Amino acid sequence: MEEKEVYLDNASTTKISADVYKKMLECFTKCQGNSSSIHKMGRDANAELDEARAKVAKAIGAKPSEIYFTSGGTEANNWAIKGIARANRSKGNHIITSVIEHPSVLESCKDLEKEGFKVTYVGVDSNGVIDYSQIIKSIGPNTILISIMTANNEVGSLQPIRAIAELAKANEIYFHTDAVQAIGAIALNVKELGVDALTISAHKFHGPKGVGALYVKKGTKIDRFMSGGRQEDNMRAGTVNVPACAGMGVAIENATTDLDEKVREVRVIRKYFQRKVSEAIHNISLNGHPTQRIANNCSISFEGAESEAIVMMLDREGIYASYGSACEMGSNAPSHVLQAMGKEPEAIRSTVRFTFSAEITREQVDEVVETLRKIVKKLRSISAIRIYKSKVEL
Ligand SMILES: Cc1ncc(COP(=O)(O)O)c(C=O)c1O
Repeated sequence: MEEKEVYLDNASTTKISADVYKKMLECFTKCQGNSSSIHKMGRDANAELDEARAKVAKAIGAKPSEIYFTSGGTEANNWAIKGIARANRSKGNHIITSVIEHPSVLESCKDLEKEGFKVTYVGVDSNGVIDYSQIIKSIGPNTILISIMTANNEVGSLQPIRAIAELAKANEIYFHTDAVQAIGAIALNVKELGVDALTISAHKFHGPKGVGALYVKKGTKIDRFMSGGRQEDNMRAGTVNVPACAGMGVAIENATTDLDEKVREVRVIRKYFQRKVSEAIHNISLNGHPTQRIANNCSISFEGAESEAIVMMLDREGIYASYGSACEMGSNAPSHVLQAMGKEPEAIRSTVRFTFSAEITREQVDEVVETLRKIVKKLRSISAIRIYKSKVEL
């Protein structure tokens, strides 16, 4: 990254930290064996996996035997939802999720609907928080699984997962949470929370891309997802990517050590940005819950200025933010999350997501805000001319 570039898209992905990179390099050079082989090279690779598994488990209060490595959050979500649903089909065919989940959850549910499962998609309030009462009302004798994300990736709102976990337990329903945006943002202990399955993705907390994990509580009935070899305790076939898993181990240990202090730093800089933007630019609105939220996320609607234009003009200045989420880039569909929150189409079209890391300085924020102010002013003046012209032409 060039020195003058400012990366404000940490919800899409984060930069690999130096010690994660070092660990991965070490693995690439020193452990070339297949972690399933019984010879020394295999055993060395397997020892790295054991270490990484122990680190991931410790970070979320699980046992190492409850952690399964995957190719990322998408695979872990697919596996948790399809694996639990299919394994418990004889008990019922009803699943509860929410309308603001990541596409890997929503699409997994759609796939299951084609197999005869029934899915209830609960709504959210204007702050992007799940309607808990709708979950209670939706539970029926056939409900076998509830899947609700811990924190939303577009607007950062935290969901009441502790209460949902309790509700699920009381009704003997499995509860899965997609915690991809929450690791390193809030303290998570699967035993205290009482969740049965939890999704992790390394690249959201300064680890490598293409690796993640699924926590599955011991005793949970879940089908294996990939057919093939007996890796991962015969639950997830495929030769394991040892350097990536080792990198994830280091990354999750870093992300969860001194968590409060790290989160505080990110919150301070995000709030500074929020204050500066509010002072510099009028007619803006902040999206997501004002307090019940992860620290790094700031989603703003800039009335009268289009989000795509803002993001592209910021890009030209070396400032990287996003509109919607990275996985939905290229689609012209308005954000399903902002729509579910009841945002007007005009506001949705003018929303930009800035997601911070602790390395961002106040000086950088000042520069970003000044650039943003000029961009929004310019775009608003163009759109004002367009509105004026269209009125004249009418
Ligand atoms: C909430 C959430 N779930 C799942 C995913 C998918 O994770 P991955 O990119 O590792 O497949 C993402 C990635 O953006 C996400 O934000």
